[in-house]
Amino acid sequence: MKKYITTPIYYPSGAPHFGHAYTSVACDVYSRFQRLDGMDAMFLTGTDEHGLKIQRAAEKLEQKPQEYLDNIVGEFKVIKEIMNLTNDDFIRTTEPRHKKTAQEMWKRLNDNGYIYKSAYAGWYSISDETFYNEDELVDGKSPDSGHPVEWVEEESYFFKMSAFQDQLVTIFEKNPELVQPSSRRNEVLSFIKGGLEDVCISRTTFDWGIPVPEDEKHIMYVWVDALTNYLSAIGWPNTEGWQDRWENVIHVVGKDILRFHAIIWPSMLLGAGFEESQLPRVYAHGWWTAEGKKMSKSFGNVVVPSEVVEKYGQDQVRYFMMREISFGSDADFSAERMVERINADLANALGNLFQRVLSMVNKNLEGKVPALGELSAEDKAFLATAKAATPKVREQVEALQFHKALEEIWHVISEANKYMDTNEPWKLKKENPEQMAHVLRVLMESFASLSVLLEPFMPTAAAQFQKQINFEGKTLADIETDGELLQTGTELPKPQGVFMRVVAEEAA
Ligand code: MSP
Repeated sequence: MKKYITTPIYYPSGAPHFGHAYTSVACDVYSRFQRLDGMDAMFLTGTDEHGLKIQRAAEKLEQKPQEYLDNIVGEFKVIKEIMNLTNDDFIRTTEPRHKKTAQEMWKRLNDNGYIYKSAYAGWYSISDETFYNEDELVDGKSPDSGHPVEWVEEESYFFKMSAFQDQLVTIFEKNPELVQPSSRRNEVLSFIKGGLEDVCISRTTFDWGIPVPEDEKHIMYVWVDALTNYLSAIGWPNTEGWQDRWENVIHVVGKDILRFHAIIWPSMLLGAGFEESQLPRVYAHGWWTAEGKKMSKSFGNVVVPSEVVEKYGQDQVRYFMMREISFGSDADFSAERMVERINADLANALGNLFQRVLSMVNKNLEGKVPALGELSAEDKAFLATAKAATPKVREQVEALQFHKALEEIWHVISEANKYMDTNEPWKLKKENPEQMAHVLRVLMESFASLSVLLEPFMPTAAAQFQKQINFEGKTLADIETDGELLQTGTELPKPQGVFMRVVAEEAA
């Protein structure tokens, strides 16, 4: 089956931050998991390169927008290496393939009667070159610069979004999975029921953007340009097979841009002739604060992905991102929590467990996979727990509940630690070496499952674990088979610690 998952396209008006890396890691975990599950998953990310914000950022550096973008886009592309992402493509909205798609979308909306010309009126600040709504003004002046504003009417194109109000309500009530989590869907639904207005989709006050077909004085304003990136990357409408890819599409977005994705985008798709069954699933995640405060340049607390990865380790940061936040809610990035998670979950519960078991195998059993003896009721119960994890993790990943998927995995890890403590293999060494070998093997069978389930979250560590038990290149199907997962007698490499404890002072 084909699957398709996308991040928002990021504004390269400044360097990428933790929030950007976070969405990308979530999408990466999802895609890696799908691939392990035999799916053909495509993962897309990219940059949103048009508009006044970008034009301004370039002007500040006395550069042309394209020159500015070609420089800064590298900082976004390198997130792939920094976070170990497996995105299949990186779309830039300044690429010709995107311009073609955005213009095609415009044409279809226009041909279907959903675009009309009217006047856009609002409070305009000449110095900011921006329109503001009445309620955005601060003391009647521009909220950005404090400069005076004047009432201006500008000829603009509008998209008839109001036409889709009733249809969207029916669709979302019938298909709750389309907007998640459900609290957010309710927000979206009540917003739609409150009445949808048409949206202004062109501007004549700036020129860094995609020209409107057959009226080049107008530049597409945000929506038709940015949202269509998801279609450009799969070659809509001309590339064969785009429908199969689109059939299982999920857009992961921050809560601040949910409405655009859950209201404007489906309206546009319907307006362009997409079927109701062809609407994307949209999942809104929460926001990170840093040490309790909103991340912002002025507080100087913006978490930079490359810096935290260097400090704590790549898999550690990926784990923290997916574990600390209930996907959908907000969470706080703090050095203290990061250190606690690394020490308790990764170094103690997981790393130590593998290390203790594999060291005993190395020292006492010639470093070979020991044989499994007769299974006791307790052994069976423990191995059943390990086996039962896969379908549970699958279900949680499919629902983008990454923290719950990790809880399922850690449940197995904690059961493994209990099994180790009750069976005390170190005591069996003298009195019953065969039973010791058996106990270690039972634990190693659970390691085989764990090492595969951990791969989407912590790919490098998982590969190290797999290597140490000679269980490389496996898929979910391999750990869902009946019978023994490891091969008795296989020689194993000398075990090496995978997760080290961190000292809080070092990290602070
Ligand atoms: N370019 C638009 C999206 C267009 S998609 C067709 C945009 N770009 S953005 O760079 O400003 O934001 C990109 C994403 O980063 C958004 O989903 C936003 O929610 C997310 N985040 C920005 N700050 C964040 C945090 N502090 N925490 C989590 N996510 C954050 O919007």
